[in-house]
Amino acid sequence: MAQGITAEYLLNGHFIENGENLIFYGGVGTGKTYLSTLIGLNAIQKLEKRIKFYTVTGLVNSLLDAHEKGSLSRVFKQIEKLDLLILDEIGYIPLHKQGAELLFQVISMCYERKSMIVTTNLQFGQWNHVFGDPILTEAVIDRLIHHSHLIVFNGESYRYKESLLHNK
Ligand SMILES: Nc1ncnc2c1ncn2[C@@H]1O[C@H](COP(=O)(O)OP(=O)(O)OP(=O)(O)O)[C@@H](O)[C@H]1O
Ligand SMILES: [Mg+2]
Repeated sequence: MAQGITAEYLLNGHFIENGENLIFYGGVGTGKTYLSTLIGLNAIQKLEKRIKFYTVTGLVNSLLDAHEKGSLSRVFKQIEKLDLLILDEIGYIPLHKQGAELLFQVISMCYERKSMIVTTNLQFGQWNHVFGDPILTEAVIDRLIHHSHLIVFNGESYRYKESLLHNK
C-alpha cells in the first residue's frame, strides 16, 4: 500500500483519477463515514463524478433482494456506471454466505476499473468474521489493497467528545 497521502489528494479526488482505493480503518465515532461522505460529495459537485454510497448491509440486502427478483444484472449495470463506490461499515455485522458472495462479486467487478472507499473497524485479520470463509476473505482483501491507501483514524470518538461538551 502507498504511503504519505495528502488531504488535498483525497478531497480533490485524485485517487479516483488514478483508479485507487481508500481503506478507512478506525474505532467507533472517529470520522470514517464523515470523511467518506465529504469526499463523495466533493467528487459529485467539483468533479462531476458518478458515485454511490452504501452501507455494506444496505448493499448486500439490495443484492439479495435483486437476486431473488432476478434483477441482479440491472444492479450490477448501475454499479458498472460508477466512478467511485463507497462501502461503509465492513465489520459491524457478519454476512450470510450468499450475501458475502454477492458482495465479493461487486468488489471483483470494481477491481482495477473504478475506485472504492471502504470503511472498517476491523483489522484485516478479523475480516474472516464478516465474510465467513477464509479463501473468500483473502480474495476480497487482495483486490481491495492492490492500488490502495490505508488511512488510520486514531483518537477518541467525536460522538463521545460531543456528548461530554453537552453535559458540561
Ligand atoms: N472532522 C470532523 N469534524 C467535525 N465533526 C466530525 C468530524 N468527523 C466526524 N465528525 C462527527 O462525529 C460523529 C462521528 O463520525 P462518523 O459517523 O464519521 O464516525 P465513524 O468513524 O463512521 O464511526 P462508526 O465506526 O461508529 O460508524 C458524526 O456526528 C460526525 O458528523
Ligand atoms: Mg460510520
